[in-house]
Amino acid sequence: MEGGRQGEAAAAAPSGDRPAPVFTLEEVAKRNSSREAWLVIHGRVYDVTRFLAEHPGGEEVLLEQAGRDATESFEDVGHSTDAREMLKQYYIGEVHPNDRGKEGSKNPSRTSSGQTRYSIC
Ligand code: HEM
Repeated sequence: MEGGRQGEAAAAAPSGDRPAPVFTLEEVAKRNSSREAWLVIHGRVYDVTRFLAEHPGGEEVLLEQAGRDATESFEDVGHSTDAREMLKQYYIGEVHPNDRGKEGSKNPSRTSSGQTRYSIC
């Protein structure tokens, strides 16, 4: 027994009153084929199985990312606002709080955090 899923998804549901389902990265990792393809983008889980054939960038790139955190690849492409809107259609839940920070942690954005604060005026 793994006791993975924890009944309540207290984590911020994006909108609406239903709590969003929560998935561990392990669960996401199993969906890495054209039979079932899930992606994590910005801590959210998307089932892109039915989108594979429709993706303007091709199904291959999606399959490469399937089962993983695709935030970086998604952002690198510079997807349009339309593309971002489309994400909603494929949203199925949130990454489990224990797994947050693991995904994407290879590349923490620390653009200006190293700077000392100066008072400019
Ligand atoms: C559910 C997730 C995704 C959605 C809804 C989506 C949607 C789209 C859309 C609508 C376009 C057309 C151009 C635009 O409007 O920006 C596009 C292009 C593209 N996408 Fe995605 N995409 C997703 C994930 C990804 C991922 C994970 C990759 C990984 C590399 C990727 C790579 C590309 C590429 C290479 C193009 C072609 C860009 C070009 O020809 O200029 N996409 N995508």
